[in-house]
Amino acid sequence: MMPSPLSLFEKTKAEGRPLYVSGPMVRYSKLPFRLLVQDYKVDLTYTPMILAHDETIKFIKIVEAAGVDYITIHGRLRNQRSSTPPNFEAIKMLRAQTTLPVLANGDVYSLEDAHRITKETGVDGVMAARGLLENPALFAGFDKTPIEAVSQFIHYAVQGGMRHELVVHHLSEMMGGVTTKRERAGLAVCNDMVDVVDWLDSRCKLQRPLV
Ligand SMILES: Cc1cc2nc3c(=O)[nH]c(=O)nc-3n(C[C@H](O)[C@H](O)[C@H](O)COP(=O)(O)O)c2cc1C
Repeated sequence: MMPSPLSLFEKTKAEGRPLYVSGPMVRYSKLPFRLLVQDYKVDLTYTPMILAHDETIKFIKIVEAAGVDYITIHGRLRNQRSSTPPNFEAIKMLRAQTTLPVLANGDVYSLEDAHRITKETGVDGVMAARGLLENPALFAGFDKTPIEAVSQFIHYAVQGGMRHELVVHHLSEMMGGVTTKRERAGLAVCNDMVDVVDWLDSRCKLQRPLV
């Protein structure tokens, strides 16, 4: 049986660390990706299309009264670009408005970011989206995607029947830090999984078996 999210907060608190969460990403948060990040310390994963709202004190009180279990706060306004740094001061202030567990979201790209943001804002956990796309193993302390995670992703993608274009998208995100743009151009012209495995083999030694 799946543990309830609230028991996860208790577990990670007992371990003296924040809850690690993979955010909703339309198109990307398919089962193979969710299984992969769970192999690398993510405690809770979201499927896409959770409705996002601008968080305000009033909104927090409304959802609290409605009986939600916990709240995730993204530190940007609706009209701000994703390159604008999140407002962690605002998250800290909003965190103080509720006794519910709170997750902070925005610009978590490393385990160090996760711990710094937790300390700065007093939240109970952190949610990452783009950071996990680029490096699914970030919460396990890796600064770049380890090659084992690439092998494991291909295994899950084949088992789960992920669309070829989406596999290529994920791999170019995951391997951005370990390949050049020119090398990744070779990935974009792969027609099927056989081409993809050949491309990977020419760059790094993949673990076998993949399927
Ligand atoms: C490709 C992509 C798809 C997303 N899809 C959704 C979605 O369906 N629902 C949602 O509430 N947020 C969605 N988001 C927003 C993220 O969950 C997250 O709140 C945002 O990217 C900020 O976190 P980050 O700085 O860790 O990326 C998406 C983000 C990305 C990059």
